[in-house]
Amino acid sequence: MSTDDLARRAIDAVCAISGDHPGFRAVHAKGTLCAATFTPSADASRLSRATHFAGDAVRAHVRFSNGSGNPDAPDYEPREGRGMATKFYLPDETTTDIVGINLPAFFVGTVDGFLDFCRARVPDPATGEPDPAAIGAFLEQHPEALTAGAAVLAATPPESYVQCAYNSLHAYRFVDDAGDGRYGRYRWEPEAGEASLSAEDAEARGPDYLQDDLATRLAGSPAAFTLSLQVAEDGDAVDDPTVPWPDERRRVTMGRLEITGIAHDREQGDDVLVFDPTRVTDGIELSNDAILHFRTRAYAESVLRRSGIARSSV
Ligand code: HEM
Repeated sequence: MSTDDLARRAIDAVCAISGDHPGFRAVHAKGTLCAATFTPSADASRLSRATHFAGDAVRAHVRFSNGSGNPDAPDYEPREGRGMATKFYLPDETTTDIVGINLPAFFVGTVDGFLDFCRARVPDPATGEPDPAAIGAFLEQHPEALTAGAAVLAATPPESYVQCAYNSLHAYRFVDDAGDGRYGRYRWEPEAGEASLSAEDAEARGPDYLQDDLATRLAGSPAAFTLSLQVAEDGDAVDDPTVPWPDERRRVTMGRLEITGIAHDREQGDDVLVFDPTRVTDGIELSNDAILHFRTRAYAESVLRRSGIARSSV
């Protein structure tokens, strides 16, 4: 990963929304890391020759997070995407990542659009809230943001990080043993089912209730997610994360992730843990999605600012 001017502008833009918080991720600053095991389904290896889809279970880490760049933002904030970032440890000692969010689409499909999106959300110093006129002007200029925007407006705080479904939003090309490929988008479905709280109930649970809930649940028993792949058909937008595909598209179960406990074995000392959606492995290829390709540059700049290093550990 290397950093560049555009990446610096993007990180300055997100920091203008929630401030500089040295040592923390520029966004998704507050989160909890968990240990997990991924077991692929029998169908997974028919779609991709990637080694974690091949049959044997692999070790994984999962970081659940809130979207804000403010690590002190309360967990009950309703208008925030929640993240689920997963790192699979492969037999050849490399890793591959899936970074998902509990929204059905992203707000923009271009880097310029992302900078507009950030500018529109800078809080008005008088109210401490985004300026509704700026948000309105952004939506007029970027109608592609309406799907994600409507989902955020309708969202209520989750009951638990393990009761949200998370989407990769970007499509990847899955290549099988014969070299044949098809595009798909990941989705993590919680085995406990999706559930949310009223704003009042969430607030009553306290500012760290999502982190506390994880620790309590996992001390009792594991939590699990099913990984599914929504398979594209001809004409589906494979390079545009603002456009959901029709619900009736085939979904293939790729495996089951069992989250076994809170993890304490990474993000210590010199270990800089980075979940990067472009970190793929043989059998999975990137689409031409401009946002997907830009993310690795923006993440590198955030990593540099939070850790002082230009390269992440695997
Ligand atoms: C241009 C678009 C985007 C930019 C500039 C951006 C920027 C960032 C940055 C700077 C980080 C912190 C990286 C680090 O320090 O390790 C981050 C983390 C994250 N982003 Fe994005 N992001 C973008 C799009 C997305 C999309 C489309 C998704 C959802 C699919 C997403 C989900 C996440 C999640 C879940 C994390 C937390 C990862 C972790 O736990 O380490 N981001 N993003």
